[in-house]
Amino acid sequence: MKGVVLAGGLGSRLYPLTKVTNKHLLPVFDKPMIYYPIQCLVNAGITDILIVTGGNSAGHFLQLLGNGADFGLQDVSYTYQQGEGGIADALRLAKHFADGEKICVVLGDNIIEKNISRAVKDFERQERGAKILLKKVEDPHRFGVATVDRNGRVTKIVEKPKQPETDLAVIGIYLYDARVFDFIEKLSPSERGELEITDVNNFYVKDGTLTSDVLDGWWTDAGTFESLYRASTMVREGGANRMDD
Ligand code: G1P
Repeated sequence: MKGVVLAGGLGSRLYPLTKVTNKHLLPVFDKPMIYYPIQCLVNAGITDILIVTGGNSAGHFLQLLGNGADFGLQDVSYTYQQGEGGIADALRLAKHFADGEKICVVLGDNIIEKNISRAVKDFERQERGAKILLKKVEDPHRFGVATVDRNGRVTKIVEKPKQPETDLAVIGIYLYDARVFDFIEKLSPSERGELEITDVNNFYVKDGTLTSDVLDGWWTDAGTFESLYRASTMVREGGANRMDD
């Protein structure tokens, strides 16, 4: 399985921190934010990794990460998102890299305590479809929210609902088969003018092939002042994506 880290976007919720740099280069405790999603993939045994970035600071990713020596990698791939079209638009750029293989996509501002090895192994055995990871949260209205049947099959996802049906947030780690790129082509922009990853996932819901797993350990995004602060605190106090996981 190949890995894709999505690290584009304007980071407008963190302005002015993101006025002259990319959100994913900001510090989370003792490392740049993007180190955590890369380490997450490497800990799950995924070493063929594409970074999708964009904006003015794109060259800094190359300077920072080089060929991935800090993660024990031989090589890292990069691509560039023109403009600001949303998460699914950024993912579209991974089509050539994926080259028909399954992929594990991690949003560059998602940080987890433990690892995703179980979900990755289960998805390797899953014949077709996709898998998402869920986490119970107190503020589901900030996220994609999933409804799940008894077997863990996802029956519905609503993006940032005002009145969430469940408290299961869809975290920013997604496992897809190669059909994801066909589904992306069918998307139209949401109210916020972006191609939404939730709409991609709902194609798999309709197809009856979206499975889920509940993540062990803590998870946070880091795209707002509060969550960025919380991410640093959680990493400082609890460690994250440890090398020995
Ligand atoms: C995105 C997704 C959302 C998901 C979240 C996880 O939200 O659209 O479904 O729950 O990432 O971090 P965004 O951060 O783009 O608002």
